[in-house]
Amino acid sequence: MLRIGVLVSGGGTNLQAIIERIEDGYLKDCSIVTVVSSRPGVYALERAGKHGIPCEVISRKSYSSLDDYDKALIEHFTKYNAGLIVMAGFLSMVGTLFVNTFKNRIINIHPSLIPSFCGKGYYGIIPHQKALEYGVKVTGATVHFVNEEYDSGPIILQKAVQVRDDDTPETLQRRVMEEAEWLILPEAIKLFSEGRLVIEGRKVKIKESGIND
Ligand code: GAR
Repeated sequence: MLRIGVLVSGGGTNLQAIIERIEDGYLKDCSIVTVVSSRPGVYALERAGKHGIPCEVISRKSYSSLDDYDKALIEHFTKYNAGLIVMAGFLSMVGTLFVNTFKNRIINIHPSLIPSFCGKGYYGIIPHQKALEYGVKVTGATVHFVNEEYDSGPIILQKAVQVRDDDTPETLQRRVMEEAEWLILPEAIKLFSEGRLVIEGRKVKIKESGIND
């Protein structure tokens, strides 16, 4: 059984996608054991609550240093014995301590085709605003392993989405979620849970068959 801890900061539609794929049997032998939000009162916490998943708010501003924040997160996920940590719309920064403690066991979903429209300051609706301003015809989403730098760890999966002439940041954001994020995040978790992701330097190779075959 893969014990998954999920980090959120907002509406939690990606969290919902994972919950649904566990419930419909696509993600076998996977369980969300805890959801941690960087903000109180967000809808993601309600979603988790409805499914009986233990939740906690661990907010960066309650800690004087990034190291202390990392330690609080490490303590929490260690208590729940998490084997994979999924950043599903998590908008706080984590530090080297956290990344090294769960090395190659933290993944993040980002709403663009990395390395475009990513890095510090690119989160939520902003990558979509910037993509429209730039005039790209294709954008999408990326799931990647998390390292010490923003949005720069080895890429697991990407999916492209066509930009339409009449898109607004909001319509584009929604379509990127529907056509890309909610598909590739569960898919990446499935590949991880089956032991099929092999990191070789910057690259992630996907093995044909995994530990469950
Ligand atoms: C999603 O679009 C996710 O890709 C993005 O925030 C949104 C959260 O939505 N994450 C980032 O921008 C991280 N850099 P959700 O709370 O409904 O899943």
